[in-house]
Amino acid sequence: MKTLIINIKELLQVRDSSVLKVSGVEMAVLPTIKNAYLFIQNGLIADFGSMEDMPEDFNPEKCIDADGKMVLPSWCDSHTHIVYAGNREQEFVDRINGLSYEEIARRGGGILNSARKLNETSQEELYDQSKARLEEIIRLGTGAVEIKSGYGLSLDGELKMLRVIKQLSQNYPITIKATFLGAHAIPLEYQNNRKGYIDVIINEMLPQIAENKLADFIDVFCETGYFTVAETEQIMEAGIRFGLKPKIHVNQFHSIGGIQAAIKHDALSVDHLEVMTTKDIKALTNTETMPVALPSCSYFLGIPYSPAREMMANGLPLALASDYNPGSSPSGNMNFVVSTACIKMKMTPEEAINAATINGAYAMGISETHGSIAIGKKANFIITKLVSSYYQLPYSFGSNLIESTYIEGEIWT
Ligand code: NIG
Ligand code: FE
Repeated sequence: MKTLIINIKELLQVRDSSVLKVSGVEMAVLPTIKNAYLFIQNGLIADFGSMEDMPEDFNPEKCIDADGKMVLPSWCDSHTHIVYAGNREQEFVDRINGLSYEEIARRGGGILNSARKLNETSQEELYDQSKARLEEIIRLGTGAVEIKSGYGLSLDGELKMLRVIKQLSQNYPITIKATFLGAHAIPLEYQNNRKGYIDVIINEMLPQIAENKLADFIDVFCETGYFTVAETEQIMEAGIRFGLKPKIHVNQFHSIGGIQAAIKHDALSVDHLEVMTTKDIKALTNTETMPVALPSCSYFLGIPYSPAREMMANGLPLALASDYNPGSSPSGNMNFVVSTACIKMKMTPEEAINAATINGAYAMGISETHGSIAIGKKANFIITKLVSSYYQLPYSFGSNLIESTYIEGEIWT
């Protein structure tokens, strides 16, 4: 299908396809074309430019007038846990009544609560619950997403989650990357035998996952009360032996050296980063590891926001993701993420949009094909409703300004 979009008020994030991420002061720059056209062919971006220079020989099958609207690459959400069973509304109310997230976890709630629910849910039911979340985030402008396992905490449960992720990627046109997060928490039956559970991860789960090509990445929740730095290194190394690149949960509550360990193992990203020391920031400079902030988790749990300004001032890149999960961020709305990053982390709209598109794509290893408007990249983009400027996207927090999401050149309905 050849589609031509004309009279775009402003086409955002137009870049040479060789740009795979933006860092430090570059993040303040969002290249745009005003009064632009965009030509899509075979699901890819075939051409774009200013209306004044538009060639006449496109012969599109469909022409869309985007007068007064913005077009930008769809959101690249590099960190989610959207495959889960049920919800955790009771813990939400418990927190309102004074319990902390960590106290709830210590009482057997939290991740273990979701694991119990997941192991009682059939693969079909889990698929149905998860696909509703996937459809919701596509409607909200997401065009590529990473999904983690980590609520199984048993061989069967983890495989069930990863199979659901695979089914989603086979049945939906959106790009999906799968991450194995068996090391999300120590399951109840191994509370007095951590080593036993880590053995299961390494010797039982990983070989089957690799054999069935069920994951692209390996993740560990490296945090006090979850997995130590030494355990994280052991699990990352095992994952790497099976061809999985690390993407690690670190520095959510404490800085314990997880960032340095992740960098040592060439992690693609380090995610959360609510608690960052100067040493942590310095360790990330001039590395290939993408720092990923999750502002809706900070919002929902009432914990600190990642120090985005300090990180960018030190030359670091930054990606933004939703962390959509039942415990710490039951929302996959990237528009809210971008807005919250502006309001609470003092990121400019340009920085936040860069973080949620090109840098998000980098954090999933797909920035050669996603995350910017560049010739040859996938035609995954958003058309906004009528807006005065792109500032309105983060400014009008809570409003849905997405008119339509296109995936591989086709409108998502
Ligand atoms: O990224 N921090 C660890 N894991 C998830 C939340 C898990 C849960 O509470 O279910 C996160 O925030
Ligand atoms: Fe997470």
